[in-house]
Amino acid sequence: MDKFFVYEMQTLLRAFIAVSAILIGLGVKDGGSEGETPAQFLERYERETLPRWNMVAEAAWQQKTNITDENTAAFGKASLELAKFSQKNEKQALVFLKNNSLQLTFDQRRQLTKIADIGTSAQTNKTKLKRLQTVISEMEQIYSKAEVCMNPSGDCLKLEPGLAELMRSSRDCQNLSDAWRGWRDQSGKKMKDLYQEYVQLSNEAVQILGHNDLGDYWKSLYDTSTFEEDVAVLFDQLLPLYQHLHSYVRRKLKEQYGPEIFPSTGHIPAHLLGNMWSQQWNNIADLVNPFKNKQLMDVTEEMKRQGYTTKKMFQTAEDFFYSLGLDNMTQIFWEKSMLERPEGREVVCHPSAWDMKKQDDFRIKMCTTINHEDLMTVHHEMGHIHYFMQYENQSFTYRSGANPAFHEAVGDTIALSVQTPSHLKSIGLLKVGDEQDKEKMAFMPFGYLIDQWRWSVFRGDTPPEQYNNEWWHLRCRLQGISPAVKRGADDFDPAATNHVVANFAYIQYFVSFVLQFQFYKAACVAAGYTGPLYKCDFYNNKAAGEKFKSMLQLGSSLPWPEAMERMTGQRHMDAGPLVEYFEPLLDFLRKENGDDYGWEEKCPENPPPCNARTIKLDTSLWTVSFRASGRLGLRIFD
Ligand SMILES: *[C@@H]1O[C@H](CO)[C@@H](O)[C@H](O)[C@H]1NC(C)=O
Ligand SMILES: [Zn+2]
Repeated sequence: MDKFFVYEMQTLLRAFIAVSAILIGLGVKDGGSEGETPAQFLERYERETLPRWNMVAEAAWQQKTNITDENTAAFGKASLELAKFSQKNEKQALVFLKNNSLQLTFDQRRQLTKIADIGTSAQTNKTKLKRLQTVISEMEQIYSKAEVCMNPSGDCLKLEPGLAELMRSSRDCQNLSDAWRGWRDQSGKKMKDLYQEYVQLSNEAVQILGHNDLGDYWKSLYDTSTFEEDVAVLFDQLLPLYQHLHSYVRRKLKEQYGPEIFPSTGHIPAHLLGNMWSQQWNNIADLVNPFKNKQLMDVTEEMKRQGYTTKKMFQTAEDFFYSLGLDNMTQIFWEKSMLERPEGREVVCHPSAWDMKKQDDFRIKMCTTINHEDLMTVHHEMGHIHYFMQYENQSFTYRSGANPAFHEAVGDTIALSVQTPSHLKSIGLLKVGDEQDKEKMAFMPFGYLIDQWRWSVFRGDTPPEQYNNEWWHLRCRLQGISPAVKRGADDFDPAATNHVVANFAYIQYFVSFVLQFQFYKAACVAAGYTGPLYKCDFYNNKAAGEKFKSMLQLGSSLPWPEAMERMTGQRHMDAGPLVEYFEPLLDFLRKENGDDYGWEEKCPENPPPCNARTIKLDTSLWTVSFRASGRLGLRIFD
């Protein structure tokens, strides 16, 4: 599921440029291009921006697909050029926006606002700006260099691949717990002071733009004043489903590890879910699969048997979009994309989609492997490319998603249709199988709570001495997860998470998961489909394709509710379609769980240690006591 956590090209560049603008310390005069009207300014901006972005994108592509000192330096140089240019225009846009005597049209105001939207680089005090940059890069360095030396093997492991692999595959409670604790000791714990400084400096910077704090600035990208309440409503809609999934998985894990190591509060210890952050649970599918004799739906073997190449995987995805009436990939796409890990040079393998800001030049960079998961990732990435292609004719400032979540949702919507057994059968990749992807459900509370925590921190509601307490308060209450070992005053677990350290918002992933089911349902309705939602395949349906096009073509030229309305007929986010999609799963889980679901709001005082199990002498006893306690149940949320 890493695909959901990719930084897309544009976000990455924007961040870099905001930062490098600081370092070169420009002395730009206000009103640098005197005499221009807003219309002339925007026209010139359009003309001059594209080639500059293209140059930087090309340099970035060279660097990411061929990591050498020379290419890194070239990318840095190109970015500085662009930063200079951007900062100059940002200032000019602000001058226009602040001039009340100008009669700006809706469109001019919107474009100027986007050009002036420079986030934390609005800070005019250079010392403070440089310090902010230093603080972030120091945190990133701590994170990327962190190593955990494991006992008794003595091996020292980094997060990737060592610790991640251990969390994925080990079924030894103590081993998992050590890795979990070790990672937090070596990463987050060392950043508490830096983080505090980061919060203060970034708040100060965006306050210059008129925002209350950094969280407020992030939320402003969603154009709606009620965003925070809106996502809370979505979360409430999803909670029953998550509760039941959680409790089903908890029961399966108790069978594996013994109930003694589970706290009586009903939480699942965080180290047992196959992932360092308990954010996705696919790595423990073997422990929780309810159908022991049934094959999990997976077309990997069949693709291999049929001799699929990576190119064929991309053609399969291309064909799906084409069947909806969307365009084929361009010739340049096939010539310039990197679809496999190349020999003889170092590359960044994280999959990503690139809009090179030049006619027909769109690319994907991915070290594709022939397996089921990557087939879905290919669809995800190609969804980005179709968005790029559809809004190519918009002005530069509008060539982005309607909001940050829209871009992530498009390819996933297609993947939902591709994943249906009937579709996989129709393209000859599946013979039997009927299963829903539960992963998305497992992710939801985590996707929600990271920015719950940050909004509260940026707002000052959570002071530094409460950072870690509040983090665990949210983890326990919303996710039903408890710490592997007792946490102390020095711990700082939020910063054991990449996006927190790297200064990237997270809520778009949560929102994207909700949106993609809304889009999916809209496409199914457009296609005239009437059966159970999770079986809907809108392959070949031009009416569904038209819906997509009408949304994608807008880019960010209008507030996102407008784009959503074109696709779904609705103007607000709604978790209803997601809930509908998972209805059969919920029915199944409800029957399995009976009264045994839910957890207490508060974290356990003392998480049971891994050796709690061996203290019991007779293992037949714990089976009995477990069965009995299972029936008592915990019903905290209803
Ligand atoms: C990789 O970059 C270096 C420059 O640092 C260049 O000499 C080399 O040709 C590049 N390799 C490929 C395959 O593009
Ligand atoms: Zn993506």
